Order: sequence, then structure tokens, then C-alpha cells
Amino acid sequence: MSNDFGFDRVELAELRRRGGQKWRRYGPDVLAAWVADMDFAPLPAVREAIVTMVDRGDLGYPDWPTGSPLREALSERMAARYGWQVEPGAVRELCDIIQGVQLALELGTAVGDAVALHTPTYPPFLSSLRAMRRRIVGIPMEQRAGAWRFDVERAASELERAGCRALLLVHPHNPTGKVFARDELEALAEIAERLDLLVISDEVHAELTYPGAHHVPFASLGEAQAARTVTLTSATKAFNLAGIRCALAHIGPPALRERRDAAPFALYGTPSVLGVAATLAAWRGGDAWLAAVIAHLAANRDHLAARLSAETALELVPPQATYLAWVDARPLQLGAEPADLALERGRVALSPGVDFGPQGRGFFRLNFATSRKILDAVIDAVVRSLA
Ligand SMILES: Cc1ncc(COP(=O)(O)O)c(C=O)c1O
Repeated sequence: MSNDFGFDRVELAELRRRGGQKWRRYGPDVLAAWVADMDFAPLPAVREAIVTMVDRGDLGYPDWPTGSPLREALSERMAARYGWQVEPGAVRELCDIIQGVQLALELGTAVGDAVALHTPTYPPFLSSLRAMRRRIVGIPMEQRAGAWRFDVERAASELERAGCRALLLVHPHNPTGKVFARDELEALAEIAERLDLLVISDEVHAELTYPGAHHVPFASLGEAQAARTVTLTSATKAFNLAGIRCALAHIGPPALRERRDAAPFALYGTPSVLGVAATLAAWRGGDAWLAAVIAHLAANRDHLAARLSAETALELVPPQATYLAWVDARPLQLGAEPADLALERGRVALSPGVDFGPQGRGFFRLNFATSRKILDAVIDAVVRSLA
């Protein structure tokens, strides 16, 4: 079977015909390098699974008396990829990851509780915490020796001082693309143990980890960690299926699971049959596609880093996972938000750094999951408008 999935044959006209927000939001003359969708068509197995169901007229109520087949599928996948033994009975379906974050916060914390997370951070975490009236305790990411790190000692004392009840771990981290190393995870586990924290680990980008880094699920560190952790994942980032609205939570703490199951059965919704079919198809038939997309993205990442370094004073720590580049424009001293200037002068939509919290001022996030040709057009526009 060919491993050419057409990642470099994406056409602008075709992207602009799609209904999604990425290419619609800013109008027909703007290049889109913002929201975290890839520009690639889904893998053939997903298309076939969806088309087959539609052709069969198979869109009635699903027969899942003991949960969807994804519980078992997640268990198999975690064992195969990470050696993490997941009890299918501890898995629950969700419509999306952010719903899972809010659910875990709802079940495991209360109004006024402090919740820690690494900053800068993906904006919906900040808005969720604010809407749920949880106090936000930032663990600042720092750029040191060409890598993103955080100060463990300082985090330990800040979390204790703030009386944190939970840690929202975004692993791999959005926007920096950092993959937390085992020793960093173990240090966080020690803090979680000492302060008795609920850990909510969003691992949705894990399968897009590049060679050279290695993803370790937080809950796989040991039984004690699993018992305090809600792990959230889906096929939607790695396989580019954000619109299917289907995700999973492994709810380690039995008390949280009981609380969740005691709620009226429809309160948290169920994913659609098409979302479940697409996820199963991606997980069971997507290995070659996933390997090919990682190779394509890694080459794009390196190309982006090389061009920025050769042509501009913009700084980038190349991400260890996923297709989002967190670019530091502060050396240019632009005096305005770089994403605003890029949109105005370059007609390219980037994600503004300030949306990721105050630490993001002077940064922007650039999505490089596209063809090389479109990526080059995006970089040309950034260079033209900022450098
Ligand atoms: C770290 C992270 N979590 C969650 C999400 C959103 O996932 P969902 O659409 O399933 O809520 C994203 C989207 O980019 C993300 O980057």
C-alpha cells in the first residue's frame, strides 16, 4: 500500500470550500495558520467507516449496554503504545476533551478551589477555569538552553502556598509542544502525592510525538498516580477529526467515577455513532497514515525553524510534539501584537500569544500542518509583515 497520502497536494481552493472555522473565519484572502486542525483529508479507513454506515442506513440508536467499543479499544491502544494497562471499566465516553476537563473539575473540585497548570496555556483551559470560578495558579514555562522547562521547587512551593486542589496537566503541552520527560512527571507526581491533588491529564496530542521524545502517560507512572488521575484523549488531533466530537476519559479515582455514574444518564451526553466508528477506524487501521503524517510534520517543523532562523530574528524552540509552533517575536520589538500585524499586513491568521495568558505577550502560535507549498506561503507572509 502506498504511503503517499497526498499531504503535499492540499489545494487552497479546496480548503476554502470546506465549512470549518480554520479557513472560513478570516475571509477568502487570508492564509489560515491558527486553530489546531490539520489541512489534510482524513485517512481512507475513516472515510470508508463513515460512508459504510451511511450507505447501510446504520444511524439508529447504538447497542452499547455496557459502554461503547471504545473502552476496550482505548485499553488495547494504551497497552500497545505505552505499556499502560487500562481497565476498560474505568473508561467513559465524552463528546470532546474540554468537556472532559470541565467534568473532572466539576466532579473533583469546588468553586473557589485553586487549580494549577503550566502557562502559557491553550485558551479554553483559562476560560473554563474562570467560568467555573476556580482560582488559576500558573506554573511558568521557561525557555532554557533551547528547551522548555519549569522550576519544580518553585512549583511545589507555589502550589502548596495557594492550597491547590488539582493539577491540569497538558501533556504534550499546548502551545510550546513540550513533551514532559519521565523525571519531570515523577517530580509532579511527588507534588501531587504530597498535596493530595487530583490530576487531570490532557494527552490529546500524545500520538503526534516526534522521534527523539517519548510520551509517558501520567497515570502509567504507577497505581498511586492512576488512582488520582483523570486521563483525557481522543483520535481527533492525531488523525485530524476534530469535528467528529468523540473523546474518552480514563477516570482513575473510583469516587469520581461513582459521582459521574450517579448523574442522570444523559447529562454528559454520548458521542455519535459516526464519531465512535471514525475513532475505531483510525485506531485500528491508521498506523501507516500516522507514521506518514508525523514524518511530514517533522519535516515541516524543521523547515519552518530553518527559515525563521535564516530570515528573521524570531525565535522558536522546535516542538517535541504536535504541529503548533510557539514563536517568540519579542526580539523584533514590534510594539503591538505580532498576530495583529501579520493579519493586517501579511493577510495570514496566526493565534495571538496574549490569548494564552499574559506570558504569551509578544508571541504567536503558528500551525504548520499543511502542504509545504502553503507553509512556505505562510512563512513568506510572516517574514513580509514582521521581519
Ligand atoms: C491540549 C488541547 N486540549 C484540548 C483541545 C480541544 O479538544 P476538543 O475539541 O476535543 O475539546 C485542544 C485543541 O486544540 C488542545 O490543543
